[in-house]
Amino acid sequence: MSASAPAPSSSEIREIVGAHLHLEGALLPILHALQDAYGCIPSAAAPVIVEALNISKAELHGVITFYHDFREHPAGRHVLRICRAEACQAVGATALAEATLKKLGLDWHGTTANGAVTIEPVYCLGLCACGPAAMLDDRVVGRVDEARMSALLAEAGA
Ligand code: FES
Repeated sequence: MSASAPAPSSSEIREIVGAHLHLEGALLPILHALQDAYGCIPSAAAPVIVEALNISKAELHGVITFYHDFREHPAGRHVLRICRAEACQAVGATALAEATLKKLGLDWHGTTANGAVTIEPVYCLGLCACGPAAMLDDRVVGRVDEARMSALLAEAGA
């Protein structure tokens, strides 16, 4: 389950887009500004962006999906990221992630029904020597086993 998507007016979106058009490589600043404002990239923003930047919908979609931090729906109150990169995989991160998703009944990018936690994959947190690594909001945590994951989920209210 995801939090409900915001529905800003097209004039609100045009204002945000217009404020960044003068920048070189304006797309990323626009997307960041939209996500800062609404917690996600509202679906109504796509036609405004493609027109303003003269890019295709496919290009826009490609950029939004390439950068894992951009969301189509607002995240839960907390974001738990689990490292899926190689060093963490080598020490059990895949099994940890699968068990966590199963426990919560979610897929990647999903949010618990109570809106407490969104689970995201991440590809290295710089804690490779202490994997499996995870990050709850802004705090990185190493050597995450099942017990530590349960504690993180409890802390986040999942
Ligand atoms: S591979 Fe997981 S923190 Fe680097």
